Amino acid sequence: MKQPEQDIQARIDSFEQWHYQFDLKGHLTPAVRGEKSVLRHARRKAHFFDPMVKLFGGSLCGKRVLDLGCNAGFWSLNAIEAGADFVQGVDVRQMHIDQANFVFETLEVAPERYDFSLGNVFDLDPEALGQFDVVLCLGLLYHINRPIELLENIARLNTDLLLIDTAVDSAPQSFLRIVHEPTDDPRNAVDQELVFWPTCKAVFDMTRLFGYDTTMLIPDFDDYTGLEDFRAGGRRAFFSAKQTDLSTLDAKTEVL
Ligand SMILES: C[S@@+](CC[C@H](N)C(=O)[O-])C[C@H]1O[C@@H](n2cnc3c(N)ncnc32)[C@H](O)[C@@H]1O
Repeated sequence: MKQPEQDIQARIDSFEQWHYQFDLKGHLTPAVRGEKSVLRHARRKAHFFDPMVKLFGGSLCGKRVLDLGCNAGFWSLNAIEAGADFVQGVDVRQMHIDQANFVFETLEVAPERYDFSLGNVFDLDPEALGQFDVVLCLGLLYHINRPIELLENIARLNTDLLLIDTAVDSAPQSFLRIVHEPTDDPRNAVDQELVFWPTCKAVFDMTRLFGYDTTMLIPDFDDYTGLEDFRAGGRRAFFSAKQTDLSTLDAKTEVL
């Protein structure tokens, strides 16, 4: 449904919080941490999303993309802008599904190219959703406490690439650290405040268990403003693939 111009600002203001800054026909959504949020997501994009598009020859044309914990649709929109045929977003919070639909409607993305559905990532149904060339598991793995089950579910509906961006424990061993997080923050876990943070080695072990070849990106920024967790070794991005050759990835990488 096309949004009348005068309603755009009112709709933006009606939401309690925005995780990202979107430019909706000249109306900017107020990102929760202002300029730091803008920098953070632009740098995350440069760090892992752009190399992924490059890995596929510069376009996601022909790809079906699943965006888990899609929030307001920022990565879904990036996938559409990179040429993806179809994006399926899933988030457990109605506010985020409403925001994502509002963003896509306002930007007039063709309705047959996307769907945002309210749901828990543990209830993904491959029969209903179909198969996806690319699964985005960004900012999600450390907000849940059944990571092996989640990766098993993902592997069932993912034919090729899984992109993970997660907070990590910096220990060299393979383990999951228990962390408490408040469930009233709309970025966090929804039902249980006890979550697991994996070590890097644990991400390798868990993805390999389900048939993925995995590599980890080594962050290499001149300026880490907005990405302090990456500089401190507290966050990493991982490419896991069933088919694509990750040796052609145009980025500094490490295999554990
Ligand atoms: C930190 S935000 C990350 C948003 C986005 N993927 C990114 O990386 O920029 C985590 C998102 O996951 C959603 N979420 C948390 N637990 C979830 C679950 N079990 N199932 C579906 N969505 C979940 C939250 O509502 C929130 O929108």
